[in-house]
Amino acid sequence: MPRVVVFDETGGPEVLRLAEEPVVEPAADEVRVRIEAFAVNPLDQMIRAGQSPRPVQLPHARLGVEGTGVIDALGSGVTGLAVGDPVLLIAIPDFETKGSYAEYTTVPASRVVPRPAGLDAVGAAAFWVAHFTAYGALVERSGMRPGDHVLITAASGSVGRAAIQVANQIGAVPIAVTRQTGKVRSLLDAGAAAVIATDREDVAEATRRHTGGAGADLILDAVMGPGLAELSLAARLGGTLVTVGWLDPRPASFPANPSLTIHRYMGFADLADPAIVRRAAAFLAAGVRTGVLRPTVDRVFGLADIVEAHRYLEKGTQAGKIVVTV
Ligand SMILES: NC(=O)c1ccc[n+]([C@@H]2O[C@H](COP(=O)([O-])OP(=O)(O)OC[C@H]3O[C@@H](n4cnc5c(N)ncnc54)[C@H](OP(=O)(O)O)[C@@H]3O)[C@@H](O)[C@H]2O)c1
Repeated sequence: MPRVVVFDETGGPEVLRLAEEPVVEPAADEVRVRIEAFAVNPLDQMIRAGQSPRPVQLPHARLGVEGTGVIDALGSGVTGLAVGDPVLLIAIPDFETKGSYAEYTTVPASRVVPRPAGLDAVGAAAFWVAHFTAYGALVERSGMRPGDHVLITAASGSVGRAAIQVANQIGAVPIAVTRQTGKVRSLLDAGAAAVIATDREDVAEATRRHTGGAGADLILDAVMGPGLAELSLAARLGGTLVTVGWLDPRPASFPANPSLTIHRYMGFADLADPAIVRRAAAFLAAGVRTGVLRPTVDRVFGLADIVEAHRYLEKGTQAGKIVVTV
């Protein structure tokens, strides 16, 4: 019988275990996907640890909100997709019963998009969440334009690296922020026009230096925490700050720049909008085609090593996505 990863109680990585579940027939307007690979996301870690944004029904909860695979069966009424099509699973809202940490799942047909040509299963698994989040926050929500100076915190992370690439695809100017001088070279190689290392320089002052004194047009922040007030001073008058994450769990300080427009971006909300998903899929596929957008894979695990994959995520030393092949 096909294998799935489940957990019966919340806790450390060791609560995850392999179980077997029968294959389910897709309902009307659903597809069944034979999963080939999925990424391990910080959200999965939060859900497993009992910090889910919404309650999860235990025992025997599944995990995994995204992944990639091949269409295995079509429910009635599904058009435009065929058995054998490689697809991305873009969001699985009822992950506790249909999560992607499994050999098979069934999802509404609206929750898959074609896998961009040029990505294999591992690359595709590392691609969607990071790049959709960067695209949604910068382009859909903040209206990033060519020539904009875009300051990107946690730029070494998967969303940060995707944001550098998305800014380059638009013709904006990505300025990366890292806490470590040792990562400057790799961020320049990743496409940043400039890199600010906060272990040796002040972020607001350095941003002004890189923007001819004006400040950043747009800031994408995945950190929040007490550093938010100082970060906001890096924006130009009338600039925009879009927050996507909360890597620093301490309470966020109030931005000290009163002229800022502030957005809080949640990709899940946009993923329910078919028009945004269609635009994002087209933008992201075009970027893969031209080579501007590419996934960053840190390490690949097998399904049987799911506990090790979560332990590795908890160490926080990855540079790019942690992918599990099924
Ligand atoms: N809004 C959404 O829809 C959405 C979607 C996906 C992810 N997210 C969130 O976005 C955030 C980033 O996700 P990710 O996958 O890119 O994470 P990631 O790959 O784990 O990012 C790790 C990088 O962030 C930096 N970092 C870590 N902790 C930090 C801290 N306390 N202060 C400053 N920098 C820190 C580090 O870079 P340096 O050492 O170089 O500083 C580290 O290399 C997470 O909070 C995630 O939950 C949100």
